[in-house]
Amino acid sequence: MRVLLTGHQGYLGTVMAPVLAAAGHEVVGLDAGLFADCVLGPAPADPPGERVDLRDITAAHVAGVDAVIHLAALSNDPLGSLAPDLTYDINHHASVRLARLARDAGVRRFLYASTCSVYGAAGGDDLVAEDAPLRPVTPYAESKVRVEDDLHALADDDFTPVYMRNATAFGHSPRLRADIVLNNLVGHALLSGEVLVLSDGTPWRPLVHAADIARAFTAALTAPREAVHDRAFNIGSEINNVTVAEIAAQVAEAVPGSKVNITGENGADPRSYRVDFSRFRTAIPGFDCEWTVKDGALELAGAYRKHKLTREDFEARFTRLAVLRAASDAGAVDDTLRWRR
Ligand SMILES: NC(=O)c1ccc[n+]([C@@H]2O[C@H](COP(=O)([O-])OP(=O)(O)OC[C@H]3O[C@@H](n4cnc5c(N)ncnc54)[C@H](O)[C@@H]3O)[C@@H](O)[C@H]2O)c1
Repeated sequence: MRVLLTGHQGYLGTVMAPVLAAAGHEVVGLDAGLFADCVLGPAPADPPGERVDLRDITAAHVAGVDAVIHLAALSNDPLGSLAPDLTYDINHHASVRLARLARDAGVRRFLYASTCSVYGAAGGDDLVAEDAPLRPVTPYAESKVRVEDDLHALADDDFTPVYMRNATAFGHSPRLRADIVLNNLVGHALLSGEVLVLSDGTPWRPLVHAADIARAFTAALTAPREAVHDRAFNIGSEINNVTVAEIAAQVAEAVPGSKVNITGENGADPRSYRVDFSRFRTAIPGFDCEWTVKDGALELAGAYRKHKLTREDFEARFTRLAVLRAASDAGAVDDTLRWRR
């Protein structure tokens, strides 16, 4: 398939592009490149791609494409809360516009990177499946719910949207993010000897390795239409249904000499959901996640050591919000996060 991969220069896209290519697909990237320089180690070899803002996409970008994998977004709660209107412009309106253009151009499959944070304040210890009530508690999560709703309205005989509700990602990517929980805690452990948790550690936070997300999208791309058409799937594995305190304990084991410190200073986090991942395994027989939290913590600690992670990079270069603030302060992007040059 010829696959348009939006967000190919992000944390997940940089891992996904080579997995798609290895499966025989022709990958074309599209990204504003906001985090293109957030590289840990050698620069990745990107697929052919264009530096385009999602809000400026035209029919030409989807012409001749068989499938779209749509990852590009303001990708976490702090970014979403920084500028809720921008989050809705980029994550919601521009995504739905892309889907309409794709459908009009005859693109048959549209894999959308949604998130388990649509369950938001699910609370409790019961497993939430895809038909559970959605209780987003941030503009980021709300933007994902709105896109799912609008894509559902576009589904028809020729256009198959699929809603991939990823758990929180972890693990090494050549374009790193250190603002997601496991990657963050491993960095703290190495740099300070402390696995610092600011919440009370009790929320459930299911995790999934970036490479397993890439494998799941690749599988969904060619799955029989009836298995995936207009369906939501939680992407992850029950073995990685962990609380933040459990994640911290695994990190302390993976980084010898480090100690867990749960300060609780940010109070209880309302975002807590324990997730049932069985629907995707049923739809895609043979698929399962390969990475555990422990293995991911060990892998990441190795990558941080190998590439000599510094505190400055950890706090500035690999933290999405800090990168955008710095670009804005330097005048490189305007207040709508468009490049000035
Ligand atoms: N990483 C996670 O834990 C996780 C979990 C669930 C869902 N997701 C979703 O997966 C997707 C990818 O996440 P990620 O971790 O790779 O995030 P990321 O921030 O590393 O990558 C997002 C990419 O989108 C691009 N982008 C942002 N705004 C754009 C715009 N206006 N025009 C064009 N490109 C733009 C950025 O330049 C970046 O390369 C996102 O949609 C995110 O919401 C991520």
